[in-house]
Amino acid sequence: MEKNMDKKIQASVPAKVILFGEHFVVYGKRALAAAINRRLVVEVSSRERSGYHVKIANIPTFGLEMDLELGQEEGKGKALLYKDYGAATKAIAYVKESIRYLEERYGIGRGGEGVEIEIKSEIPLSAGLGSSAATCVATIAALKEFFGVGGDLEGIRNDAHNIEKAVQGAASPVDTAISTYGGYVLVEKGEVKRLRLAELNLVVGCVGSIPLSIGMDTKKASEMGLKTKKIVEGVKTRKEIFTSIFDSIFAASDEITAQAIRAIEHRDFVKLGALMNINHGLLDAIGVVPRRLSELVKMSQESGALGAKVTGAGGLDEMGGVGSVLVLSGESVDRIKAVMEIAGALVMEVKTGGEGLKTITF
Ligand code: PMV
Repeated sequence: MEKNMDKKIQASVPAKVILFGEHFVVYGKRALAAAINRRLVVEVSSRERSGYHVKIANIPTFGLEMDLELGQEEGKGKALLYKDYGAATKAIAYVKESIRYLEERYGIGRGGEGVEIEIKSEIPLSAGLGSSAATCVATIAALKEFFGVGGDLEGIRNDAHNIEKAVQGAASPVDTAISTYGGYVLVEKGEVKRLRLAELNLVVGCVGSIPLSIGMDTKKASEMGLKTKKIVEGVKTRKEIFTSIFDSIFAASDEITAQAIRAIEHRDFVKLGALMNINHGLLDAIGVVPRRLSELVKMSQESGALGAKVTGAGGLDEMGGVGSVLVLSGESVDRIKAVMEIAGALVMEVKTGGEGLKTITF
């Protein structure tokens, strides 16, 4: 193992959007996801004192900033400033598990080295844009490089996926695959296939993670970390009651994803937008569209979008409707951005299909 003193490693990874097929993919149906040009960077360097020092800054929607001592001083962490306890705990959970996993799997970090980890992110948390997977992939890549156990992309993806599963209980391979490889992936019957498709210009609208009704209630806020799990369980319950109806909805979604890939290949944006609208209707039918996300979709459609839909897990009204929508805005981009901002969403123009993991050693 190489000696790592005075080394500094930066690992940068993209966020993701699910374009088609979220939820239905849990039951083996096709889903299409893409990297977007919003990135998360993990910087790892040595520090004089032993143990891990972790800093998370610059995360949109929260103004989250925290400074925790891990390793030798675990449990004595000092939060300097954070508005969102749930998000703070969630973000740090992935870093802690990455450190634990690397120690166990590769024996690295056991020498009591002093390691500084800094995470800077343009990816809102709990918004369905893959911030958890991005944290895992970039942390693993940077730490492996720092400790001189390097590793191929597939190994990093696999490690990161294991960490996501350990923290969340379950995770589909979509997010870690996109963060590692970038571009587009099609998931079919649990298998991840990389696809070559042209770039799309989209608008993402996020309903932020800390609804005023929750305020600083830490218990409720930390439940936000379980949002996806809760929503997926809700779909399962309804599917068990309305099995034959849900089977038809699921089959329709599978066909939508297949047609959407062809629409992107043919650059048929009118058809692509119509397929997004239908996909959104199916997500509403299975009960994952809260009022605030529904409003963003309707407002975008009414303002001239070619298509709009919820992306990722969706949301729950009792959790403040936190989540994101994806809009194919066509010519109406400025108007759509304005109406979503007035409605209180964090709005980002994004391009799909960007680069995956990039690691730089200084
Ligand atoms: O919102 P996200 O990024 O957690 O997306 C969840 C996507 C689901 O299909 C609902 C679950 C999954 O693991 O694929």
